[in-house]
Amino acid sequence: MNEEQEEVIVKKKVLITRRPPKHVLKMLEDKFDVTVWDSEEEQIPEKFLLENIKNKDGILCLLTENINEDVINNNKRLKVISNLAVGYNNIDITAANKRDIMVTNTPGILTETTADLTFGLMLATSRRLIEASEVVRQGKWKTWSPMFLTGMDVHGATLGIIGLGEIGAAVARRAKGFNMNLLYYNRSKKPELERSLGIKYTEKDQLLKESDYVCILTPLSKETKNLISKRELGLMKSTSILINTSRGGIVNEADLREAILNEDIWGAGLDVFDQEPIPQESPILDLPNVVTLPHIGSASIKTRVNMWEMAAQNLIKALSGNIPPNLVK
Ligand code: GLV
Repeated sequence: MNEEQEEVIVKKKVLITRRPPKHVLKMLEDKFDVTVWDSEEEQIPEKFLLENIKNKDGILCLLTENINEDVINNNKRLKVISNLAVGYNNIDITAANKRDIMVTNTPGILTETTADLTFGLMLATSRRLIEASEVVRQGKWKTWSPMFLTGMDVHGATLGIIGLGEIGAAVARRAKGFNMNLLYYNRSKKPELERSLGIKYTEKDQLLKESDYVCILTPLSKETKNLISKRELGLMKSTSILINTSRGGIVNEADLREAILNEDIWGAGLDVFDQEPIPQESPILDLPNVVTLPHIGSASIKTRVNMWEMAAQNLIKALSGNIPPNLVK
């Protein structure tokens, strides 16, 4: 460049698919030319996403966005997809790999918060807390009755964890405080956790037969799609409870409905669904002993802010020519 020429610094362009906290937005605006879908509660429309991803170097997206091959290929210069979640089943990793696009997630920081929610959902389902609260609010509490709103004990029961990753281990640690008997099924065995937590590796069918609580904490993939269907639910105890705080699609919802109605299992606590938000007409919403939450596993203020910061750092690292710390591919 000769001296008369002014240096023009062209900022890299990024798309953020939901409104971040102010300090995170500032951090990104200092470095990049930012386009943001400026809403906290409304999902980015597909048309806006497709149109605005075109000329971007990076995208910071949520698990609500379906970053499929069409979206990825609608952009010739994309370098990084930073997902604000630990799960990344919403991203076509194969399509990203083909184009050498980095994909990052937000592991670790949400482990304990999600384990809290998972344990809370176990308690809420087994002791019918939501239903009980509604009874009080609706003026239906007539008198103390011996068998009124009775549920299932958590303490001393057998908990079977399917997917003993970080969150699974954190749930198991909580369960020890409730004197639960611990089983797990996982692709690979975890001898260290077996020793430190006293948790026992058990084949899937056996785990389903023996557990009072079956907790799904495995990621959604081709292998885990419909992992819990009619046959598996049929193996569970009629007094047992199924908890899913991982992803919809792992539990077959139609089969779960049948299992509850036939009293093959006692109840279910679900934070995740096939389709989110779950349609109001879904028959799952009419079932007894089923607690339904709007995918709030990691939703503490502190953790969600931490996730934003981590996702922003992943994006910054990747676009400054470094390997981001939380690369998933
Ligand atoms: C939430 O479900 C996540 O994957 O972080």
